[in-house]
Amino acid sequence: MVAVAILAAGRGTRMKSDLPKVLHQLGGRSLVERALLSCEAISPLRRLVIIGYQGERVQDNLKPYPDIEFVEQREQLGTGHAIQQLLSPLDNFNGDLLVLNGDVPLLRPETLKQLIDTHKNNQNAATLLTAQLPNPHGYGRVFCDHQNYVQQIVEHRDCTDAQKQNRRINGGVYCFNWPQLAAVLPQLHADNDQEEYYLTDVFAMMQPVMAVDVEDYQEITGINDRRQLSVAYHILQNRVKDNWMRAGVTMIDPDSVTIDDTVELEADVIIEPETHLRGQTQIKAGSRVGPGTLIENSQLGPNVTVLYSVISDSEVAAETRIGPYAHLRGEAKIGESCRVGNFVELKKTSVGEKTNIAHLSYLGDATLGERVNIGAGTITANYDGANKHQTIIKTGTKTGSNSVLVAPLTLGTDVTVAAGSVVTEDVEDDSLVIARSRQVVKKGWRLES
Ligand code: UD1
Ligand code: CA
Repeated sequence: MVAVAILAAGRGTRMKSDLPKVLHQLGGRSLVERALLSCEAISPLRRLVIIGYQGERVQDNLKPYPDIEFVEQREQLGTGHAIQQLLSPLDNFNGDLLVLNGDVPLLRPETLKQLIDTHKNNQNAATLLTAQLPNPHGYGRVFCDHQNYVQQIVEHRDCTDAQKQNRRINGGVYCFNWPQLAAVLPQLHADNDQEEYYLTDVFAMMQPVMAVDVEDYQEITGINDRRQLSVAYHILQNRVKDNWMRAGVTMIDPDSVTIDDTVELEADVIIEPETHLRGQTQIKAGSRVGPGTLIENSQLGPNVTVLYSVISDSEVAAETRIGPYAHLRGEAKIGESCRVGNFVELKKTSVGEKTNIAHLSYLGDATLGERVNIGAGTITANYDGANKHQTIIKTGTKTGSNSVLVAPLTLGTDVTVAAGSVVTEDVEDDSLVIARSRQVVKKGWRLES
């Protein structure tokens, strides 16, 4: 029986931010959401999140997890005081309590399992994750005997110079026998440099307490300031990119690429330099993306190519070529084997198979059939200043260069729009529409002086 508690009530003064620290984003998820997700594999019986500073925003951020119990810590008097708030909600609880600082986002699920196993196998009162850091500055130092039993934890600012030499740090991740912790929690004192109730002071009152060193110290990187946030992002990125390369994705220059860990790729996807994949994006086998491309919350089918383009909240089907310099947004939906080319913007527009929109167009709120050819410079005038209107362009229709399609408007099948037309009324199937003034030539005409 394991319950999880996440400490998320602090402001995070060192971030120099109005946003609570645990809500800062790391690759598309907040720090606290990442801490929470690292516990998913151990299927905790209960999940409690301790909130305080801007607690409502933290609650809002964790809305997708309806089973979370929020516990309020009204004043932030330290990590020990935060855990004291659990005495009443966990009144009848007899199992183990896994405690995570909300600012430790890179933990691997296997590491938490190892922590819990060590705790149970040794029947410890408490067990904590530690690591030997090359630069332990800022962390609490853990002092153990030669069997890894913990004697004392001293916060960095409370350390003597000699104690600071100890590189073994407290990762802020603990497993407690809850009834034993509950018995000592009321005895904490705030007699330290910060005048806070430190959770780390309970270890001196419990027995036995064991430390488990994590192999990869990067996992317990805590985020206290923006520099550590960027270091954590870098670690996360390396993990994500290594995984995809192992799974068969080619990256020409991984250092210039960023990929959120919410993205899904298939084997034989090629990611060119300076490319960024974000949010709920999926890319199917054989697609080539970049260089110079941003894709967010979008789905690309197999064998799609995207060159120097931005695609958000959109779908692109197999074999379609996008770019260079295209912008798809607001639920654009492109069919198979299409071409969307240079300086084309598509907003909330769906496009049937084998349709080309090759140069210099804006299409918004439009529905295009199959084998449509949109001439260079075709624009939908979809907004009258107050409302948006639809344009429908049916199968096989061609628009001439520099046409303006004034919505609401329907062009039937196999319509041809003469270049330079401003089309304001619907056009029937199989028609040519010319909506511009006829050319006038006056032979021998001169300007009189
Ligand atoms: C803490 C540990 C330190 C450890 C480090 C690991 C203590 C006293 N020190 O220090 O030994 O090396 O984490 O990252 O625990 N919080 C609350 N309520 C409070 C205070 C803090 O919920 O009253 C939350 C914060 O939102 C944060 C977490 O607890 O998510 C840790 O607080 P923080 O101030 O960052 O602790 P550190 O100084 O890093
Ligand atoms: Ca911290």
